[in-house]
Amino acid sequence: MIRKNMNKHFYIIFSLIGVSFLLSSCAKSRGNNPGVEYAPDMYYDKGYEPFKEKDSNTLNRFGSNLREPVKGTIAVGKLDYAYLLDNNGEGYEASAIQIHYPEDFTFDSVRGERLYNIYCAPCHGVEGHNDGSVFKRVAAIKPPWKGYQDDYIKNLPVGKMYHVITYGKNNMGSHASVLTPEERWQVIAHIQELSGIGYHKNATVNNEQQDQQTTIQTNN
Ligand code: HEC
Repeated sequence: MIRKNMNKHFYIIFSLIGVSFLLSSCAKSRGNNPGVEYAPDMYYDKGYEPFKEKDSNTLNRFGSNLREPVKGTIAVGKLDYAYLLDNNGEGYEASAIQIHYPEDFTFDSVRGERLYNIYCAPCHGVEGHNDGSVFKRVAAIKPPWKGYQDDYIKNLPVGKMYHVITYGKNNMGSHASVLTPEERWQVIAHIQELSGIGYHKNATVNNEQQDQQTTIQTNN
C-alpha cells in the first residue's frame, strides 16, 4: 500500500519537474536571448567573422567585427564609383564644375527611360511634370519648380543632377544604391530629353555661369 502511494508521488513529482522544464525552456528563447545553449563553442566561432556580431569584440568600436573602409577606398573594378565630393552645400556647388558625363558615355535612350520610369517617375512623373503618384498624394514635398521643362532644370548643371541622384536632396532620397554611376548618367540624359533641351554631353547649359564658377575656383 505504502509502496503504491510512493510510486504515485514519484510520477507526480517527475511529471511536474518535466512540465516546468519544458515551460522554462520555451520562456527563455525570446528576442536576442537564445536560451540555454549546450556547448556554445559549436555555434560561435572563436575567430571574428565580419558578418557576425556577438558583443565579444573588445577591440573595435561598438563590438563590431566589420569595419568601415578607410574614407576614399574604392573596391577593385569600381573606379567609376569614386565620388569624392562631400554631401553638403559646398559639395553640391563643386559638382556643377567638376562632375561631367564620362568621356566614353553613350546614351541608350531605352535604358534611360526605363530606369527613369522605375526610380524617378513615381515622384517626378513619366513626362517630368512633377505629377507622379507620390507627389500627387503628398503635394507638400513637391519642389518649387513645376517640372523638368522649367528653366530651373534646363539650366541645372548635369553635375548637380548627378550629385543629387547620388546623395539625395531634402525630400528626395539617395539613389546611389539602386543606380550604378553609368545608370545615373542614362537617367540624366533622359531628363535632358524630357526637359526639351535634348541630350547633349557637354551640357552645362549656362556657359556664362560656368565660366564664373571656374574663375572662382581658380582664384581659390
Ligand atoms: C520621393 C520622391 C522623389 C523621387 C523618387 C525622386 N525625386 Fe528627384 N526630387 C524630389 C524632390 C522633393 C526634389 C526637390 C528637392 C529640393 O530642392 O528640396 C527633387 C529634386 C530633383 C532634382 C533637382 C535637383 C536640384 O539640384 O535642385 C532633380 C534633377 C531630380 N530630383 C531628379 C531625380 C531623378 C533622376 C530621380 C530618379 C533617379 C528622382 N529625382 C527621384 C523627389 C523625388
